[in-house]
Amino acid sequence: MTKPNIDNKKILVFTGAGISAESGLQTFRDGGGLWEGCDVMEVASPGGWAKDPGHVLSFYNSRRMEAAQAQPNAAHLAVATLEKKYEVMVVTQNVDDLHERAGSTRVIHVHGQLNFARSCVDETLIYPIGDKPIHLGDVCEKGSQLRPHIVWFGEKIHHYDVARDFICQASRVLAVGTSLSVYPIAGLLKKARGRAEKIVLAPDIEKKPYGFNWFRGKATHLVPIITERWLSGLRVDQLK
Ligand code: APR
Repeated sequence: MTKPNIDNKKILVFTGAGISAESGLQTFRDGGGLWEGCDVMEVASPGGWAKDPGHVLSFYNSRRMEAAQAQPNAAHLAVATLEKKYEVMVVTQNVDDLHERAGSTRVIHVHGQLNFARSCVDETLIYPIGDKPIHLGDVCEKGSQLRPHIVWFGEKIHHYDVARDFICQASRVLAVGTSLSVYPIAGLLKKARGRAEKIVLAPDIEKKPYGFNWFRGKATHLVPIITERWLSGLRVDQLK
C-alpha cells in the first residue's frame, strides 16, 4: 500500500501522564506514582470491576476530582498554540481534560476520559459527567450500572486507527511525558515517517524510539521552546 504524502501543516503530539505532572496529577510509574502500592488489576481491569465495582468507582471518583481541580500548565498551553499555524492532532493516553482546557481542539483520548461515564451493557451510551462521582446504583438509560469511561487493561483502546492515519501524514511528531511502556499505543510512534521531524521529551527515557531526538527535561520548560521554534518555521535539531 503506498504511503500518503507527508503534509507540512500536520503535527501529531503524543502525550502521557508526564505532561500533567506539573499540574499536580500523579504519573503512573515514577516514584510515588499511581501504580505504586496499588494493585493495578484491582482498579484498572474488567476483573477488578467485577470483583469490587464500589472500590473501582471510588478510585476514579477521587482521580476525577483531582483532575477537575488541576489547571493546564505551560506545556498544555504551548501545545495548543501550535494550532495558530498547523493542523494539530493531540493523541493522549491521559484521561484528564487539561489539553482541551488549554485550548487544543482536536484531542484523541486513546485510554478514555474521566469526565464521562459509560453504560456497562452498551458502550455507545456515553454520558458527560464533569467532576461528578459515579455511585453504585447510577444506571444508564437501559438500566445498567454506569462505569468510568476508561480503557482498562485488556480492553480495546479507542481511536487507534484515527491516530495511526494521522501520524503517517505528520511532518512533525512530538512525544511528551510518556514512558512508552503500554502497548499497543506505544507502538504508534513507529508509524512516524522517516522524513518527519521527531522529538521525544522526558526527564529520563528507557528506550529512545527509533529516529527520534530525545531532549532531557521537564515538559513546562521544553515544550514551549519546541513550539516556539515550529511556529517560527524552524527545525529543532539542536536545542541551545
Ligand atoms: N515533564 C515531562 N515528562 C515527565 C515529567 C515532567 N515534568 N514528569 C515525569 N515525566 C515522564 C516520566 O519520566 C515518564 O517517562 O513521564 C513519564 C510517565 O510515564 P508513566 O507514568 O508510565 O505514564 P504513561 O506513559 O502516560 O502511562 C501510559 O499506562 O497505566 C497506563 O493507562 C495508563 O495511560 C497510562 C499508560
